[in-house]
Amino acid sequence: MGMPGKRPAMIFTVAIDGPAAAGKGTISRAIAERFGFAHLDTGLLYRAVGVMGGDPVAAARNLTPHDLTRDDLRSLGAGQAASRVATLPAVRAALTEFQRRFARSPGGAVLDGRDIGTVICPQAEVKLYVTATPEVRAKRRWLELGGQSGPDSLDAVLAQVIERDARDMGRADAPLRPSDDALVLDTSSMTIDEAVAKACDTVAQRLSA
Ligand code: DC
Repeated sequence: MGMPGKRPAMIFTVAIDGPAAAGKGTISRAIAERFGFAHLDTGLLYRAVGVMGGDPVAAARNLTPHDLTRDDLRSLGAGQAASRVATLPAVRAALTEFQRRFARSPGGAVLDGRDIGTVICPQAEVKLYVTATPEVRAKRRWLELGGQSGPDSLDAVLAQVIERDARDMGRADAPLRPSDDALVLDTSSMTIDEAVAKACDTVAQRLSA
């Protein structure tokens, strides 16, 4: 019997996977805010390792929370570097324990990435796979970057989205794919508000089940 009046803090994990620029970040932040969950953007871990230079395995093993606050982590170059170091099994292994511990944060947690529902948290209470066509994702990322021509033109962003998809889906260790029990949310023809509402409904239903 538990102590009277003391209930253990809820453990509840929301796993959100999907390709680059599908809307995972926006949806994850909205879920975290609405339900009061902790949020981890796991792409930041790989981005920080990617931009560090030197031996990526050593960088992953020695990563600190401070490394996740660098202001160059959101660039296209950091995304490409992240996607490259993410193919290395030793890098992935070094980052696993931290993510699993975060997923069990008291009070609930939402993690977004590529392998959360398949590898990091196969037992997650809610699993979403957020996707959209490469053209739609490239357009969104291009607008976020300021809608420029030159090295960050729409065509260049689309080429990078396609290249990153191929690497993230084609790697041998923890490739990007929906787990069998994930709800697939194709946001190609949805507004962000519609996608957020659908994702929040799914979490609310599971919480009240
Ligand atoms: O979500 P993002 O664009 O910040 O991720 C950057 C890269 O990091 C992505 O192309 C692949 C890698 N990544 C991964 O392999 N596993 C994760 N859970 C998150 C990101």
